[in-house]
Amino acid sequence: MQLLKYLQAQGIGSRKQCQWLIDNDCVAVNGIICNQAKDTVQPDNVQSLTIDGEDVVVVPLPYFYILLNKPSDYETSHKPRDYPSVFSLFPDHMRQINMQAVGRLDADTTGVLLITNDGQFNHRMTSPKHKVAKRYRVTLKHAADNQLCETLKNGVLLHDENETVAAADAVLSEPHILELTITEGKYHQVKRMIAAAGNRVEQLHRSHFGTWDTQNLQSGEWKFIDVDTTE
Ligand code: URA
Repeated sequence: MQLLKYLQAQGIGSRKQCQWLIDNDCVAVNGIICNQAKDTVQPDNVQSLTIDGEDVVVVPLPYFYILLNKPSDYETSHKPRDYPSVFSLFPDHMRQINMQAVGRLDADTTGVLLITNDGQFNHRMTSPKHKVAKRYRVTLKHAADNQLCETLKNGVLLHDENETVAAADAVLSEPHILELTITEGKYHQVKRMIAAAGNRVEQLHRSHFGTWDTQNLQSGEWKFIDVDTTE
């Protein structure tokens, strides 16, 4: 891949800006200054990219997959209204790349959020047809017993819907803590299911999305993950 195109794909700047950086000896790949726009780069072989002496995060190309442990009070949106965007947790140059969250978490929900520039993967993970399991740790307002789990597993009618929706699994680990697994991703689904079952969500944390958990990431931390796209 041409260096100029590579820098643009990394979100470093416009064609003109990248050209300027190259011409002015500002770009180093794997520690070597590259000052010819026609230089080629093997994306998989780039271990370090330095712009004007500053190391920048190298984004795997053409597709990348990010696992974020989403903090509370961040919106899963490029145009947030009340809180900062989850995308503000990434370096500036990455925010120039067209990446999307795989489904949404509410601003007050924490935990596993996947982010990618691979539209097909995103569709596969969010389409109801594929029934990808999402597990939530729900802190309940009112102490509950097994009846709540049975109700959720049998299915509840959500406000404004005409079909019931059932939990794939529901286990109480403490009277106020419910481990809930669902395979759809309807708007505010967990909160609406719990409300339909006569309780209320005080806190919501997504501990698993498909096979991914938070992998010891602290709140707000993220990392690139490998994904098997042949499934
Ligand atoms: N269900 C909700 O109600 N909120 C979320 O953020 C995710 C699932």
